[in-house]
Amino acid sequence: MLKPFNYKLFLENINSKYRKIIHKRSDQLPKKLSENAPFPKNCLVEISNSCNHECIFCNSPRMERRLNKLNEKTYEKFISQSVQHGMEEVGLYSTGEPFMSKNLNWFIKTAKENGIKRVYITTNGSLASIDKVKSAKKAGLDSIKFSINSATKENYLLVHGKNDFDKVTQNISNIFKWKKDENIDLEMLGSFIYTDKTKHEIDLFKKTFDKYLLATMIIPAGTQGGRFNSDIKKISTPSRVKKSKDDIHPCSFLWDRIILTCEGYITACAVDYELDLVYADFRNSELDISEIWNNNIIKELRKKHLNKDLNNLVCKNCLYGTNDAYKKIMNVSYEKKRNEKNEKKVTDRMQDFQIK
Ligand SMILES: C[S@@+](CC[C@H](N)C(=O)[O-])C[C@H]1O[C@@H](n2cnc3c(N)ncnc32)[C@H](O)[C@@H]1O
Ligand code: SF4
Repeated sequence: MLKPFNYKLFLENINSKYRKIIHKRSDQLPKKLSENAPFPKNCLVEISNSCNHECIFCNSPRMERRLNKLNEKTYEKFISQSVQHGMEEVGLYSTGEPFMSKNLNWFIKTAKENGIKRVYITTNGSLASIDKVKSAKKAGLDSIKFSINSATKENYLLVHGKNDFDKVTQNISNIFKWKKDENIDLEMLGSFIYTDKTKHEIDLFKKTFDKYLLATMIIPAGTQGGRFNSDIKKISTPSRVKKSKDDIHPCSFLWDRIILTCEGYITACAVDYELDLVYADFRNSELDISEIWNNNIIKELRKKHLNKDLNNLVCKNCLYGTNDAYKKIMNVSYEKKRNEKNEKKVTDRMQDFQIK
C-alpha cells in the first residue's frame, strides 16, 4: 500500500490530531498504483523561491537556483486547466516563504475565483502581521500553518537564523484573538521540526502554542529531498538510520499532487530546490496539464519508484538516506546564483548547533 510521505512519523502519538487532517489527503491516493495516475486533487504552487529566514535544516540558504517569481499568466493557465480536471486544493508555497510575495492575495483570490475549494499556506509567520492575514483571509485563504522550529527565543535564533521568536508568537496570538472575537473561519495549524538540540522543547512548545493551533505536526528534521544528507545527519539523529529495500515505499508526491515551480516547470518533488525532478516546461507548453501529468518522463519515474529501482535519482538519497551521485530527469535550463553569504551563515551556525 502507498504510504504518505513521512508516514511513520505521523503515526507517533504526538501527531494524532494532525494525522487526521493528513489522512484526508492520503485518502485521495489511488487504491492501486501504476505508471498512469488519475488527476490529483491537490497541488503546490511555488509563487516564489525566496525566503527571509535561513533555517539550519532547510535547503533554502544553500540553494543555487536564482530567486524568481511565478508569472501570473502561467498561474492562471495552470489553475483554470487543473480545475477542469478536478483540482480542489492549492498550497501556495513549496520552497519559499509565501509572505515574501507582494501579490500573495492575488494568487489566493485567483484560485478561489476559479473554484478551488481550499487554499492554504505554510509560513514561518514572521511577516504574518494581523493586517496581512486579514487581507489574505478576505482574498479567500482557508488555512495557515505556522512553522515554528523552537520553543525558546535563544534556540529559535540558532535554528531560523533570525531573532523573530517574539514577533511570530505575537502574530499568532493576534490572529487567534481576531478569529475568536470575530468568529472567523480560518484554520490555524503548526509544525515544529526538531533537531537533537531542540527535541527537549516539545513539552514547552505544546504549552506555548497548543492553545492557538488546531493541530501541530512534530517531527525530526529530515533530509529535504536527500540533497544535503551529511549536514542533516550531524544535527538530527533519526536521519542517520539506514534504510533497506523493505523499508521504503514509493513517494506519494508522484501520485497525489502536482507541483508548479516559480519558473513555470512541473516537478515531481515539493522540495525540488535545484529542479532535479522537473518533468515538463508548463509555461511554454501547448499541452494540457492533464497530458503533462501522465507524460513519459513522469511515468518512467513512477515505474522506478514502484520497482524501487532508484539509481542515479535524487529520490534514492531521499528515501534511503544515501549520498550517491544523481542526474536530473529532464534537461532544464535555469540560472544559478548561489547566495554565499547565507550559505556561510548556516555553515557557521552548524558548529554551535551540534551536541558535543
Ligand atoms: C520549506 S518551508 C517553506 C514555507 C515557509 N517558508 C515555512 O517555513 O513554513 C516548508 C516546510 O518545510 C519544513 N522543513 C524545512 N526543512 C525541513 C527538514 N529538513 N525536514 C523537515 N521539514 C523541513 C519547514 O519547517 C516548513 O514547515
Ligand atoms: S524552513 Fe521556511 S522559513 Fe525556514 S529557511 Fe526554509 S523556507 Fe525559509
